[in-house]
Amino acid sequence: MAQGDGCQALLVGYPVSVNAPVRTELLQADEAGIRRAADVIRAHGLVAFPTETVYGLGANALSEPAVLRIFEAKDRPRGNPLIVHLAEAAQLATVAADVSTRARDVAARFWPGPLTLVLPRAAAVPLVTTGGLDTVAVRVPDHPVAWALIEAAGVPIAAPSANRSGRPSPTRAGHVRDDLDGRIELILDGGPTPVGVESTVLDMTGESPLLLRPGGVPLEALREALGPVRVVAGADHEAAGRSPGLRYRHYAPRAEVVLVDPGAGETAVQPWLAAGRPVALVSQRLITLERPRLTVRVMPADLVAYARDLFALLRELDTAGVEIIVVEAVPERGLGRTIMDRLRRAAAPS
Ligand code: TXA
Ligand code: MG
Repeated sequence: MAQGDGCQALLVGYPVSVNAPVRTELLQADEAGIRRAADVIRAHGLVAFPTETVYGLGANALSEPAVLRIFEAKDRPRGNPLIVHLAEAAQLATVAADVSTRARDVAARFWPGPLTLVLPRAAAVPLVTTGGLDTVAVRVPDHPVAWALIEAAGVPIAAPSANRSGRPSPTRAGHVRDDLDGRIELILDGGPTPVGVESTVLDMTGESPLLLRPGGVPLEALREALGPVRVVAGADHEAAGRSPGLRYRHYAPRAEVVLVDPGAGETAVQPWLAAGRPVALVSQRLITLERPRLTVRVMPADLVAYARDLFALLRELDTAGVEIIVVEAVPERGLGRTIMDRLRRAAAPS
């Protein structure tokens, strides 16, 4: 969609384009910080804020020019739709139409929490927010800063993860600053995010629930609560049509990520070490191998704790100048499925 000059003329607030750099404020997520952030949202500006999963890059979900700026700030393809965040499930009717009883039950069971539901779009939500789709992705995050901000702003907040497109999602305010300084008005620092991976995305518009993205709510928990949940592979054409995010490479650090079997790490790093390249080895086992230019990171056996640290680890290794990250696969159960999804995407050729 072209950027409407007409919109621009009507706007009272922040510039529609990020071509002119803006000064990015970094504030603690206290009462004063949240008040300031709500002012920015109401003036069609951009605020990065913590949720329980990762930091989101928020704008008024009902304001076309504000939402357009999210895409520009992130360099995000316009066809990749955004998640709309509410302070409570009672606000669902403002953004979704014809919400089924089944969808309401799922919401009641998992909200607030890291589950996003894809539902029919209400007319109030502009098509830029949904990437042109007639569905809308919605969730109620489980974070007091997110609730306070949405309530103070008085509007639903559209928020993708607050990283530059294709980079690992930010789990700390510093990650957001590294990616978006000079492109957004404000970053609210609420400390590290407790879940560390993005929400599970569940399409509720079909015959049976369809998992579009594994995330903070494990598939096992959904099946226990809902019965059958269909799962589609990332390369699946139907899934790519219904979840445009699947079409794009994601979560990638600058370093090359190489995924290997558990136990194969020490052997896998050898060729790169022999070539004199800085390599990292990431495993859940204790690694005793020591070599110049080898960085070893032992990750928690507990997959919930592993997920919390994953994106911060990828960013830290980038900063340290590592060129190849060899990661051993984790079991595909619970959050292990989500971890493996993110690792596979990070390892995929661009
Ligand atoms: O935990 C999270 O979900 C974080 C926090 C900030 O809430 N947000 C997040 O947003 O990860 P983002 O934009 O990075 O990922 C949203 C995913 C994308 O894969 C997108 O394609 C999908 O949700 N999505 C959004 N709207 C959709 C829709 N209407 N139909 C299908 N998929 C949709
Ligand atoms: Mg994202």
